Amino acid sequence: MTENSKGTALITGASSGIGAIYADRLARRGFDLILVARNKERLDALAERLTDETGRAVEVVAADLGNKDDLGRVEKVLRTDASITTLVNNAGIGATAPLLASDIDKMEEMITLNVNALTRLTYAAVPGFVKRGTGAIINIASIVAIAPERLNGVYGGSKAFVLALTLSLQKELADKNVRVQAVLPGATATDFWGIAGRPLENVPSEIVMSAEDMVDASLAGFDLGEKVTIPSLPEVADWEAYEVARQKLMPNLSHSVPAARYRVGE
Ligand SMILES: NC(=O)c1ccc[n+]([C@@H]2O[C@H](COP(=O)([O-])OP(=O)(O)OC[C@H]3O[C@@H](n4cnc5c(N)ncnc54)[C@H](OP(=O)(O)O)[C@@H]3O)[C@@H](O)[C@H]2O)c1
Repeated sequence: MTENSKGTALITGASSGIGAIYADRLARRGFDLILVARNKERLDALAERLTDETGRAVEVVAADLGNKDDLGRVEKVLRTDASITTLVNNAGIGATAPLLASDIDKMEEMITLNVNALTRLTYAAVPGFVKRGTGAIINIASIVAIAPERLNGVYGGSKAFVLALTLSLQKELADKNVRVQAVLPGATATDFWGIAGRPLENVPSEIVMSAEDMVDASLAGFDLGEKVTIPSLPEVADWEAYEVARQKLMPNLSHSVPAARYRVGE
């Protein structure tokens, strides 16, 4: 670890887009970095630039998080490197085609990365954070976690999983000094769109944010202590009202008898 380091941040999907901007911003905030993705050349180039510009220690782990052995290597890093204080679960892929017109093997690949890898990396990181009494996880979900009708449904479902897991962990880790933030970006200008099957030029520019603005806003949300950050949402009160409505359901979601409207013929 370098002098005056705030600890090490491990960022998945750091070779491009949102993950590469997190790497830049966290290095400038004083974190050493471990950058994870498949494309080693891109990771090396970013590591070299960030070391030159910030003086931070930047390590690179080339890994396909859809591959069990590679994923296991990254899990081991999280379990054994006690300098790690932050995990940014960012690696993910999307799809834009309608659900039933999509290749089921591609859907499974997406679930494996967006859900399985994120879950295993979280499980690898949390025990150390709890033991050391400090740590943060930033989970990159998406607005489709709460608006699954807007894109491919398996993608939306995978991001709803990320939001649900985050909400649950926030409760479980509340008294452990371990923070977990869910970030719900709207459309962001990255390679994501081309890879997901809709070139960025075909997305209306008025709904597309730059990756730089998206990450700066989500880190501002983190600094404000937000549990869920929606960088585009003008009024935080709208999210709070949504959350209040959800909480209002809680005491009535499990009873010994069906609701009156279902007790036909009584
Ligand atoms: N862009 C948007 O509009 C948007 C909106 C909401 C949420 N998000 C979410 O933001 C996150 C980052 O996406 P992005 O927009 O920055 O897209 P991106 O530029 O395509 O970045 C995706 C990153 O994930 C890595 N990755 C992909 N498959 C991987 C695998 N099997 N193993 C390891 N790394 C893998 C990629 O690197 P390699 O190819 O080198 O492996 C890349 O670094 C994703 O979780 C995405 O769902 C994006």
